[in-house]
Amino acid sequence: MSTRRFLFLLGSSRDEGHEGNTELLARRAAEQLPEGVEQEWISLTEHPLPEFVDQRHDSDHVRPTEGAAGLLLDATLAATDLVIASPLYWYSVSAPTKRYLDHWSGWLRTPGVDFKATMAGRTLWGVTALAHEEFEVADPLYGTLHHTAAYLEMRFGGVLLGNGSKPGDVLNDTAALARAKTFFAQEAPLARFPYETETETETETGAGAGAGATA
Ligand SMILES: Cc1cc2nc3c(=O)[nH]c(=O)nc-3n(C[C@H](O)[C@H](O)[C@H](O)COP(=O)(O)O)c2cc1C
Repeated sequence: MSTRRFLFLLGSSRDEGHEGNTELLARRAAEQLPEGVEQEWISLTEHPLPEFVDQRHDSDHVRPTEGAAGLLLDATLAATDLVIASPLYWYSVSAPTKRYLDHWSGWLRTPGVDFKATMAGRTLWGVTALAHEEFEVADPLYGTLHHTAAYLEMRFGGVLLGNGSKPGDVLNDTAALARAKTFFAQEAPLARFPYETETETETETGAGAGAGATA
């Protein structure tokens, strides 16, 4: 797959037609993508997934071909770069975003999809808006996305954060808008769980020396 294809998954629960802060920030970042990079934008509230049912350990999974699940599975498989654009809700991703990620657990078991092998090496990015001005409160969202990327052996480009409460507020966060300009140009290393990174450092350098020698 030579052409990069970005899939933006919009996770705000605002009413249709209300462009929220997360989407505004994501669009600022996307404006900087080079020509030739394909973009697809899907609102998870306009295409609501059914409640996820955990059938991992019983019946056969059938590949969804219709409705939101069919649309989102196909779009996910077609993307080289997945952008989770979710506002910060209770310090983590929004419910529609979480439900989308829960469906990955079903797709991982769906015959003929090869979800894990397909996702491996692709890149996960995050964009979020939050009312809090101290961005470390978004650490749980960061951890959710980073560890999800590690589980799928994906690359992780980090999370672009912007401050705002009501729609449009994020446009006053000039530091966030500046970060948006270069966000997608950043390196996206393979995500590793913290314990894997430690093991690799020890293996590569012996006895824990050489801090920073990670993937
Ligand atoms: C259900 C809900 C939970 C929220 N939880 C947080 C939170 O934990 N921390 C925070 O800083 N802001 C929180 N907010 C504020 C939103 O993150 C903020 O309004 C953001 O700009 C919304 O993004 P949007 O405009 O893209 O929808 C919450 C808002 C809602 C509706």
